[in-house]
Amino acid sequence: MKHSLVVNDKNYSVEADSDTPLLWVLRDHLQLNGTKFGCGEGLCGACTVLIDGNPVRSCSYPISSLKDQSVITIEGVDPEHPVVQAWKEIDVPQCGYCQSGQILSAVDLLDKTSNPTDEDVQSAMRNICRCGTYPEIKKAVELSTE
Ligand code: FES
Repeated sequence: MKHSLVVNDKNYSVEADSDTPLLWVLRDHLQLNGTKFGCGEGLCGACTVLIDGNPVRSCSYPISSLKDQSVITIEGVDPEHPVVQAWKEIDVPQCGYCQSGQILSAVDLLDKTSNPTDEDVQSAMRNICRCGTYPEIKKAVELSTE
């Protein structure tokens, strides 16, 4: 079945089964490989993208659920965005695998709350990082708000 979608402000049309997770459409059909596969069960957050400005775990989001919504992946985040700049300055990534999802979660948080409290950061930044970069992630989020 054909599906139309808007990703990073570009229009695409892809042929895929309706239950194909958005993650695999992004990676296999659109070659947007910055979005990662971790658990495949909606738990780890490595596959986080923004759909109409809200963080969504794309491994568990069937392509047929997209209805004229706009998808933003890590490739669509402005390199000058304060979150990206802070991530570089703090040098957050270790292996880097989960970081696109972490950055998109932080972008969402900062878009919605310009001055997040510790509780806001804790509740928004729930993606798993196997390297344990949580202290650096917290510092980078704080730096993004300055
Ligand atoms: Fe989607 Fe883990 S790969 S939440």
